[in-house]
Amino acid sequence: MQSQLPTWLNQIKTTTDLPQLEALKAALLGKSGAVTQALKGLAQLPSIEEKKAKGAEINVIRDALIENFQSQTQILEAHAIKQKLNAEALDITLPFSSFTQNSSIGRIHPLTSLKEEIADFFQKRGFTFAEGPEVEDEWHNFDALNIPSHHPARQNHDTFFIQNHPTHLLRTHTSTVQIRSLATQKPPLRLISVGRVYRSDDLDATHTPMFHQIEGLVLDKNIHMGHLKGLIREFCSTLFGVADVPVRFRPSFFPFTEPSAEVDIACTRKDGKLVIGKGGDWLELLGCGMVHPNVLTNCDVDPLEYQGFAFGMGLERLCMIKNGIADIRQLYDGDETWLKHFGSFSF
Ligand code: PHE
Repeated sequence: MQSQLPTWLNQIKTTTDLPQLEALKAALLGKSGAVTQALKGLAQLPSIEEKKAKGAEINVIRDALIENFQSQTQILEAHAIKQKLNAEALDITLPFSSFTQNSSIGRIHPLTSLKEEIADFFQKRGFTFAEGPEVEDEWHNFDALNIPSHHPARQNHDTFFIQNHPTHLLRTHTSTVQIRSLATQKPPLRLISVGRVYRSDDLDATHTPMFHQIEGLVLDKNIHMGHLKGLIREFCSTLFGVADVPVRFRPSFFPFTEPSAEVDIACTRKDGKLVIGKGGDWLELLGCGMVHPNVLTNCDVDPLEYQGFAFGMGLERLCMIKNGIADIRQLYDGDETWLKHFGSFSF
């Protein structure tokens, strides 16, 4: 047996495959393996001394085999891991087109990428994210925003009330977040919020009962309409990728801002296609204004010390204008072919 040891050790060292190594281990050290059989054979030996001597010899052989199996297993395992890593390595030098051709890769929905794009714009200008609940009470959706119960604006909001809870409703706009935020934060502040809003509108090419709004709020000392106009102009230019895009501030009315304005962007139609930034037509983009002193007072902010502006816009509307989407319902259809066309791979 002693004489076989070098052959066995050599076999172990030259095995390059883990299953083969396991098989060799079973053949030598397993139940019916050579070493185990030799140990069993000790019983046949005539004297105690011979048993002891032979037993010690076999133990040395067994220990040497175990040690060599262990080290060879480690070597082969390390090798297997290295091979796996090499095989799975991502080739970042591959051309992008071969990636896009892979139909199993999903796309980012245009609403999601637009939301990220807008969030990025405002975050770079020091705005932080704020949130509020979608089920609201009348105080946060109306009263605190200077829309008392007798106010006609309250009727225009097509509100979904919660059954058996007549004072609770699905928020009709994200202006609620202004009130929610001012309960825990005090000016100076710059906030942006993106979320779902609900109106019991018709369901047609330009209306859905649920859509998304983006709300902004800036409060500080000495903030004026010029700051609002500058920010909105820059926002429109960035969003549509048109330098100095013509923007019009059209006087309007919101109970929670004074003065209020709606913002239109210049556009024209060429061969049935909407072109932004040129031409004699105007397209409405968003609502805005200087925060009404009553709103600030309702939130325990002194309007003589702090002023500011707010703005709100529909995410779906912006998305449709930017991508030339004619029917809002397409945004929610979950149609894969549509998403392949309008979706993107990165924000
Ligand atoms: N909340 C208004 C709407 O839903 C938009 C708006 C927000 C207007 C903030 C002015 C200031 O139409």
